[in-house]
Amino acid sequence: MKKKDFISIADSSIADLANILEQAHRLKKQPGLHAGLLAGKSMALIFQKPSNRTRVSFETGIFQLGGNAIYLAPDDISLGKREPTADIARTLSRYVGGIVARVFVHQDLLELACYADVPVINALSDLSHPCQALADIMTIQEKFGKLSGLKFAYIGDGNNMTNSLMLACAKTGMHIAVATPAGYLPDPVFVSKARACAALTGAQVTLTRSPAEAAAGAHVLYTDTWVSMGQESETEKRLRDFKGYCIDRALTDLADKDYIFMHCLPAHRGQEVAADVIDGPHSVIFDEAENRLHVQKAVMVFLYT
Ligand code: CP
Ligand code: NVA
Repeated sequence: MKKKDFISIADSSIADLANILEQAHRLKKQPGLHAGLLAGKSMALIFQKPSNRTRVSFETGIFQLGGNAIYLAPDDISLGKREPTADIARTLSRYVGGIVARVFVHQDLLELACYADVPVINALSDLSHPCQALADIMTIQEKFGKLSGLKFAYIGDGNNMTNSLMLACAKTGMHIAVATPAGYLPDPVFVSKARACAALTGAQVTLTRSPAEAAAGAHVLYTDTWVSMGQESETEKRLRDFKGYCIDRALTDLADKDYIFMHCLPAHRGQEVAADVIDGPHSVIFDEAENRLHVQKAVMVFLYT
């Protein structure tokens, strides 16, 4: 059987995504399901950037599926510096049953996937964060009991989260409105892919400069940091450029009365979100964080069966 990877939501069919989500809900109810899936297998976790949720949820999920996680910190294998990425992929394939990688440059993930004989999972790159987007979709299903026809508003930086969320919304029939300042649009390739998927599901993908327009009537209000990992030197400029894009009470007042607030975390209270919104009764941020565990286990079930 040809090995499968999980690099982008774009690579999964609508049916595969639906299956992974169903599996994730089953695993949440019965964490012991598929307990022997990874028996005898080690998984290499290559992290070029820091992580709380992704590392701990993967290590825990791999353990629950009977496998063993080997965490490789930035300086351990020095991806792309100490030896060619292709050699790392081919070497690791001789030891482990899979590679989970968080990288600065998306191309490195593609290279790992191309040269590894074992599944490669995207644990965040500069371009996308598919595991987080899937956990977010699972959370919306839990809260609303449906996806199709809901309005999802993303307000802030058009970054890796935005790219994956646009695809995830479009593929599951949710309308997505993205509000970013000039110069911070999501990746145009992801916008056109999302629009192509939306044409199949009846969803809409809208880009605007206006947070109020995006928030109007929205069921989901979502934001992410204005300064992603690797962009620290741009902090001052970004904090200036994103003024007016904070999700605060003035914006939540425009949303549907049963709206939920979402954030992939880590969050910055007083920057992309007001403290009374993220810590308020509509916030589901820790459900999203928990669902990383269930959805990633479901992704591994998908890749290994
Ligand atoms: N949301 C997320 O990926 O968190 P970490 O960076 O802590 O893994
Ligand atoms: N956009 C953020 C997501 C963190 C989970 C970053 O890349 O740092």
